[in-house]
Amino acid sequence: MMPSPPPRNRPSTVYEPNRGEPQILMCPPDFYGIEYEINPWMSRHKQADHGLAVLQWNSLRSTLHDAGAQTLLLKPVEGLPDLVFTANAAMIYRNHAVLSRFRHAERQGEEAYNEAWLKSAGFTIHQIVEGVYFEGAGDALFCGDTLFAGYRIRSDVHGHQQIGAMFACRVIPLELVDPYYYHLDTCFCPLAPGVAIYFPGAFDEYGRRALKEAVDELIEVDADEARRFACNAVVVGRTVVTNTGCPKLHDALGKRGFTCRETPLDEFVKAGGSAKCLTLRLDGEEAAGWKHTS
Ligand code: ARG
Repeated sequence: MMPSPPPRNRPSTVYEPNRGEPQILMCPPDFYGIEYEINPWMSRHKQADHGLAVLQWNSLRSTLHDAGAQTLLLKPVEGLPDLVFTANAAMIYRNHAVLSRFRHAERQGEEAYNEAWLKSAGFTIHQIVEGVYFEGAGDALFCGDTLFAGYRIRSDVHGHQQIGAMFACRVIPLELVDPYYYHLDTCFCPLAPGVAIYFPGAFDEYGRRALKEAVDELIEVDADEARRFACNAVVVGRTVVTNTGCPKLHDALGKRGFTCRETPLDEFVKAGGSAKCLTLRLDGEEAAGWKHTS
């Protein structure tokens, strides 16, 4: 039975998993701003330009529409400036949503809104065990049948183990060692089963080795483009959408048959996020093996 959703944040469109078109959850930046500092990108002295942030968000949204995706909207909430980063709402596996439990108190207020939206959209909700932090698709990404899971700076490794047991999938934990790359989606992006991009400097020796062993085609991003959030890409079919300033990556992907699109996202980089962080794929990332099997 569907529980009745709280009235404050109902989905604008109901999630229908079988429609066949890519579906992405976004949250308009009405209340976005740099109100606190929970990662090294953020400084209250480098405030985001609100008007420009709105333009950039709209342009990302239309770029995703052009790539063939449909966007669904989470209603923005005053006092929750990072709610725009819907990648951190939950991790999606088929019709299951594993909710985030944020490490920082500043973001914990988002949890109830994420839960309400995902519940009313029809997802089966799962919680990570009490006392363990987990930051959703920001730190847990499928490439083929394997879940790649970033831990230490935000998510705890225990949460990833719980998810592996829950969905009977292989989990490769990757320790994140550079505070600028505090979520896995800032330094690793699966593009298709067996294909991913990554920034080696964000991982330790073990992590780099684990990635090389587990991903057939691992495409390296250099430090300059990693800083432009090249790895924080949204993949829709064979289209890859990133922030501006990632020409080397675009070139490398173009040679492999991907179509790359760029759209300026500097106002969100000020909060430590870019294209991928601003989206949550509801029907399964292109690279997720389970998406291609029923
Ligand atoms: N200011 C946000 C934070 O530090 C940015 C989140 C970016 N999201 C992401 N999936 N990497 O939590």
